[in-house]
Amino acid sequence: MSIVVTGATGQLGRLTVEALLRRGVPATDIVATGRQIAGIKDLADRGVTTRRADFADPDSLAEAFAGADRLLLISASVPVGERVANHRRVIDAAAAAGVSLLAYTSTTHADTATTVIGATHGETEKYLRDRGIPSVVLRNGWYLENYTSQLPQILQHGAVVGAAGEGRISAASRADCAEAAAVVLTTEGHTGALYELGGDEAFTLTELAAAISAAAGKQVSYTDLPVAGFAQVLAAAGLPAELAEVLADADLGMGRGEMYTDSGDLRRLIGRPPVTLAEALAVALR
Ligand SMILES: NC(=O)c1ccc[n+]([C@@H]2O[C@H](COP(=O)([O-])OP(=O)(O)OC[C@H]3O[C@@H](n4cnc5c(N)ncnc54)[C@H](OP(=O)(O)O)[C@@H]3O)[C@@H](O)[C@H]2O)c1
Repeated sequence: MSIVVTGATGQLGRLTVEALLRRGVPATDIVATGRQIAGIKDLADRGVTTRRADFADPDSLAEAFAGADRLLLISASVPVGERVANHRRVIDAAAAAGVSLLAYTSTTHADTATTVIGATHGETEKYLRDRGIPSVVLRNGWYLENYTSQLPQILQHGAVVGAAGEGRISAASRADCAEAAAVVLTTEGHTGALYELGGDEAFTLTELAAAISAAAGKQVSYTDLPVAGFAQVLAAAGLPAELAEVLADADLGMGRGEMYTDSGDLRRLIGRPPVTLAEALAVALR
């Protein structure tokens, strides 16, 4: 059985390939794809097939997906205006390859989300349904790493800054989301399913600041900004203007509860409690 993973040159994709290997999938059954496959030579050295696949280039997708039985489409980290067209090309190529299951990494509550990112996921989910391909939707929550990767700056300024108000966020680790993807790619009964994947312990950004204070032994507080002000802070920190606006908009969605879920789907899929914020902070601060 051939399992193709897109975005395997990125963080979630690599973790998914590692999870597939840990679950006993033979390396020769895994096809790891991306544009920059020189970066996954170590996987090729372990027997994983690596192929170049560019979502903007249908010919590369046809070659990369040849013989695929199951396929994980990891949403592209390209400018938002290009995302849906890219995803459609991947879905079309997967259909042409005759996959028996396509798993798509979406976002929490994609069908009702009011955010720019949420809308791209909602449109992709609709296209998947309309194409009638056997599929499963993995609505990944916000990554804990979005916060742990910011710890040096947060501790330097003693501040978490955002625009999420008191919205609760069911963040989960990338590794747990990758484990869930590996489970649906290697076990039966997921066709047509839709999983809302989040941690068991949701938190507000005020609670995030308090958790960082407790873990690091340094006072950190949360500053809630209007969305435009938060976008300006992100741009001033060096993010491209469009990305800054998209991320600030995502915070606004969090304020409306769009990254909250109490589904328990992640715990059930991976068969254990997901990594908590406190655990992720402890590891990141070590
Ligand atoms: N839930 C969250 O908190 C959250 C946060 C950020 C992003 N995301 C979404 O989750 C996805 C996975 O996250 P991540 O952390 O693994 O991101 P990442 O490390 O940036 O990886 C993104 C992957 O997408 C691939 N990619 C981008 N454009 C592509 C294209 N045109 N054709 C083929 N592959 C393309 C990249 O491969 P190459 O560069 O080698 O082509 C890379 O492998 C992201 O792409 C984004 O859509 C979610």
